[in-house]
Amino acid sequence: MANILVVGGAGYIGSHMVKALAEAGHQVVVLDNLSTGFRELSRYGRLVVGELADVTLLEPLFAENDFHAVMHFAANSLVGESVKDPSKYYRNNVSGTLNLLDVMVRHKVMHFIFSSTAATFGEPEYTPIDEAHPQQPINPYGASKLMVERILQDYASAYGLNSVCLRYFNACGADPEGELGECHDPETHLIPLVLQAASGRREAITVFGRDYPTEDGTCIRDYIHILDLCTAHAQALDYLANGKGQGALAFNLGNGQGFSVKQVIEVAQQVVAKDGYRIKVNEGERRAGDPAVLVADAQLAREQLGWRPQYADLETIVSHAWAWERQRARL
Ligand SMILES: NC(=O)c1ccc[n+]([C@@H]2O[C@H](COP(=O)([O-])OP(=O)(O)OC[C@H]3O[C@@H](n4cnc5c(N)ncnc54)[C@H](O)[C@@H]3O)[C@@H](O)[C@H]2O)c1
Repeated sequence: MANILVVGGAGYIGSHMVKALAEAGHQVVVLDNLSTGFRELSRYGRLVVGELADVTLLEPLFAENDFHAVMHFAANSLVGESVKDPSKYYRNNVSGTLNLLDVMVRHKVMHFIFSSTAATFGEPEYTPIDEAHPQQPINPYGASKLMVERILQDYASAYGLNSVCLRYFNACGADPEGELGECHDPETHLIPLVLQAASGRREAITVFGRDYPTEDGTCIRDYIHILDLCTAHAQALDYLANGKGQGALAFNLGNGQGFSVKQVIEVAQQVVAKDGYRIKVNEGERRAGDPAVLVADAQLAREQLGWRPQYADLETIVSHAWAWERQRARL
């Protein structure tokens, strides 16, 4: 059992992680400013409502708790917004994280797990994308995450801070027990958008482009169930704790198997049809900055962390997300 600080633990991914940690017997403190998170999602840890950038809050929090590790999920993560307002992204995602890291070093908390992203790679030069792929982000969101990755390398060599960056591709699905799920507003992720079109919270789903160089002409993405993400984090925590993870490490996380937008919609149609619902689909033009294929090569995480996704099946992912959407839409 360890004492873990989960920053951003009232958000989508963080809240599932807090539940997994609590169920594994860890003591969890959640720090979250509730800017995009929800008190109701923070069911399993002790919630401290506050700001990552507030050193006067972080100092006593670290002094009072003997944290073994920090998992850092807090960030702004809307690509379009990051282009319009880069200051917000660099301030929160980079400067806020720097505050946290400095407090950690001062309090000798030397294990850090960071939510990074496929957006650090930019336009793929090849797929599946492995860790050797060049990192050339094409928006401030991706750049802000890459800056933290670089900072972590320097903090490892200068201060001995050991870290694991987990670069997620598309996080999706929901807690199979129905307690937690995705509540982004605005929602930008395909699966919840498709399901909102089924529940009636959205009129239709728009497919942006049918002329990509893929088998069915729609974009292909790598969808990773939230519980598989949580497992990778738990394994990264063990990896750091047992001394295997020294320095600043990074792993790509995805199923290594892409699904096209058309496939996702077809599976969603089948899942919601069982409950008598249907999804209206509109056609749209390609959007700028959408690569045709984004798929992870997660071989390194498999080898080093022993990670094996358990929920790679698209129907399972969509079914869990649909159960959550039905609750939200009160169906
Ligand atoms: N959802 C995905 O598919 C995906 C993919 C790749 C990477 N990521 C990364 O994973 C992390 C979690 O994503 P999510 O989808 O759960 O997002 P989310 O918005 O649901 O969760 C982020 C949480 O951090 C909190 N937060 C933000 N800024 C804060 C601050 N300054 N101080 C304290 N709390 C703050 C928010 O209130 C929220 O609860 C993010 O860092 C995101 O960039 C997500």
